[in-house]
Parts: sequence; C-alpha cells; structure tokens
Amino acid sequence: MDRIRIRGGNTLNGTIPISGAKNAALPLMIASLLTDDTLTLENVPHLADVEQLIRILGNHGVDYAVSGKRLVQDPAQGRTIHFTARTIVDTTAPYELVSKMRASFWVIGPLLARMHKARVSLPGGCAIGTRPVDLFIDGLRALGATIDIDRGYVVAQAPGGLVGNRFRFPKVSVGATHVMLMAASLAKGETVIENAAREPEVADLAACLNAMGARISGAGTSTITIEGVTALSGARHRVLPDRIETGTYAIAAAMAGGDVTLSGTHASLLSTALDTLRQAGAEVTELNDGIRIRRNGAGISPVDVVTDPFPGFPTDLQAQFMALMTRADGVSNITETIFENRFMHVQELARLGAKISLSGQVARVEGVAKLEGAPVMATDLRASVSLVIAGLVADGETTVNRVYHLDRGFERLEEKLGACGAEVERISG
Ligand code: EPZ
Repeated sequence: MDRIRIRGGNTLNGTIPISGAKNAALPLMIASLLTDDTLTLENVPHLADVEQLIRILGNHGVDYAVSGKRLVQDPAQGRTIHFTARTIVDTTAPYELVSKMRASFWVIGPLLARMHKARVSLPGGCAIGTRPVDLFIDGLRALGATIDIDRGYVVAQAPGGLVGNRFRFPKVSVGATHVMLMAASLAKGETVIENAAREPEVADLAACLNAMGARISGAGTSTITIEGVTALSGARHRVLPDRIETGTYAIAAAMAGGDVTLSGTHASLLSTALDTLRQAGAEVTELNDGIRIRRNGAGISPVDVVTDPFPGFPTDLQAQFMALMTRADGVSNITETIFENRFMHVQELARLGAKISLSGQVARVEGVAKLEGAPVMATDLRASVSLVIAGLVADGETTVNRVYHLDRGFERLEEKLGACGAEVERISG
C-alpha cells in the first residue's frame, strides 16, 4: 500500500493548477445514463473515484472513450471522456459496486427516469457517518415512483413514467438534489424542488442537463423548477474547477507560509472559506483565473468555524482547516453540523502533537508552537489530506499511510505540492 512521506519546514511558492471537481464529475458522468446519445465531458480529473464510477456505469451498459493525444498537451488539463449509454443492459446496481462508492447510489435517478425501474443496493454507512437515503426515497416517491426495500436493495418502479410534483426537502442534501434533477428532467410536467442544495456542483449538473435539452431553472438557489421533457440528447460540457482542492491548497499555503497562486479556479466557488482564511491571517487575492494566497511572517490567528451547506463553510474543508488551527496563536472551536462522525483526523493530528478535545459536534483546538513528524493513518479522503497539511510544518518526517483514500479525490498531490517547494514523496508498495 502506498504511503506519502513529508519532510516539514519548507514554505510553498509557485503555482498549483486546480483540477476538475470530483464531486461535479461524478453526477455528470451518471447523467450520461439519461440519453442514448453521447455525453462528452471535458476537464475530468484523474482520480480513483472516476475510474471506479466508469466501471460501475459500464455494468449498466455505458461505453466510454477517452480523447487521444493533442498537439498541445497540458498535463494539468483533465481528460475529455465520451460516455454513451446507447442501451441500458442492466437496471440493477449491485452491492459489490455501490458499497465501493456511495455516489453510485445516484444511478437510481436516471435509471428510474429512463427505464422506469431500478434496483440499487443500499450504500450502507461509511467512515464519516451513517448517511441514510430517506431523502432520495421520499423525493422519488413524490414523483410517483413505488419504492420498496428488499433485502438491502432499493427497488424503485414507475411503470407509466415519473410525474412532476412539488417536493420540499426536510434537510439539504447534495446527492438527493442531484437525483431529483436527473429524475424530474424526464418526468411528465413540472417539478419544483424546495430547500434544494445550492452547491456549485448542483448548478453545474443543471447546466449540463440543460445543454442536453432539459428545462431547469433556479439551480444554485434553494428553489429549482424543472419542466420535464420526453427525451434528452448528447452534449459537451466542461467540469467546473474543484473548490475543495482549491480550498485545500489555499489552507496548505496558509499553513506553510509563502506565496502560492491557484490557477484555473474561481474565488466565488469558496467565498466563505477564503474569508475564514483571511481572518486566520492569510492574504487572499482574487485573480481573473485563480486565487493568490500569501502568508509571510504573520502568525496564524484562531478562527471559529461551523460547517454548513453551501454557501457556508464546507464540511469537506473542515479537517484541513483544523490542521491549520493546530498552529494558531490561541484557541478555536470547530463545529461539524453535516456529518456526525467526521472527526477521525483528530486522533491522528494528536499524534503530531496537536491539542484537540472533542465534545459532541465541537472540536476545541488549542494552537501549539510546533508539531512533530510521526507515522499517521489516513481514515478518509479529506482527513488524509489534513495530515499532509500538518506534515508540511511538522518537525522531521511525517508518513501518511493508507494513501488510497487520498487518491480518491486528489490528483497528483505530491507533484503539485512538490512543484511549490514542499518535500513530499510517494513511497510505493
Ligand atoms: C456530497 O455527499 C459530497 N459527495 C460529499 O463529499 C460532501 O461532504 C457532502 O455532499 C456535503 O457537502 C459528493 O458530491 C460525491 P448530502 P452527499 O446528501 O451528497 C444527510 C468528499 O469528501 N442525508 O448532502 O452524500 C447525510 O447523512 C465527500 O468529497 C440524510 O439524512 O451528502 C448528511 O448528514 C464526502 N438522508 C447530510 O444529509 C439522505 O437521504 C448531507 O449529506 C441523504 C442525506
């Protein structure tokens, strides 16, 4: 199993290109199930989760092709991938596949909309919490689907097709909003979704669906209206930049100090996180095609953070920000409101000398003057990168084990940090 070894102490200086967003690419790839035409996605990141979803979609009959060599090939650019679901050969998503990646549960929306039936394994819990699927079931039932749970499978049927309706989510869910957008696009009549997730990835999916012929308005706000159409066509769509990768490297630069430009991304995708970094003492400048982060000499100020759905502070940056706060000049409180068990990085950060105490959903972080390198264990995707961030300033050597978590969501991390002066290397085997 690969490990990442970091020798702490270097500042970061240079440019880091930001990849396409994992959490946009996944629902966009799933949207290819809605049409027998080809959906072409540009700027698809090279990530383990993308490869896994390609395999899962293949099981339903989706072919894919990757564009070949180009005259000017920029390694920072993601791939262009063509997805074609000419014929759906299987409407079952089996446990063996869904259990590997929770987002694959989302195939239930397009399968039900196009094939009028789907049998999808319950995804089960995961390291960050229980993560139920009740909101998906209630939403799809509102569109006229009959849904039963049979031996660990969600069995959904709508023999006459889905029918538009008004549905209010009792709680904001990114995945359930994605699924409702895809399902309602092919339903008869109008659907209005209230209390929808406002994440940029939802707006990106809606933009792609509209390019495929859907009639969606209001995505990016909490009320989305979808006028159902009878069929969708192919389209070409560019995956938006990864705001969590952007925020992660912004925090890394604030932690290590130095001067880093994040290119190919937009400050508007993560305003709250960037404001929080400013409060912590980083200098953040919005550029036309990126963001510049500097911290030269100034200390790190403690800032309290509460995670919230977009546009609030993202739960997917909570672990990274906690790593930064371990070196703040004082005490900060970090409250996690989205997932009940997303504090597994705490005990690993403690191995490096961080002082963190947990009480329910709140972590109290007392900044320390120095961290000491140590072997640590990655427990989930964002937790693992928080350990890399801590390792950047820890004395001596930090080894992050179980790097496969990191590979699910960060492309060429060691290269990107290494190009800015960090001593980060992957040890294979
Ligand atoms: C998406 O997960 C992201 N994943 C997560 O990123 C992210 O942390 C999360 O949104 C919140 O922003 C992808 O986009 C692939 P939710 P999702 O449904 O859609 C509860 C990462 O590190 N809930 O918005 O699964 C749920 O338990 C990942 O890249 C129900 O109660 O998250 C949670 O408490 C991890 N019932 C809350 O809603 C349901 O039916 C929000 O979850 C569905 C969700």
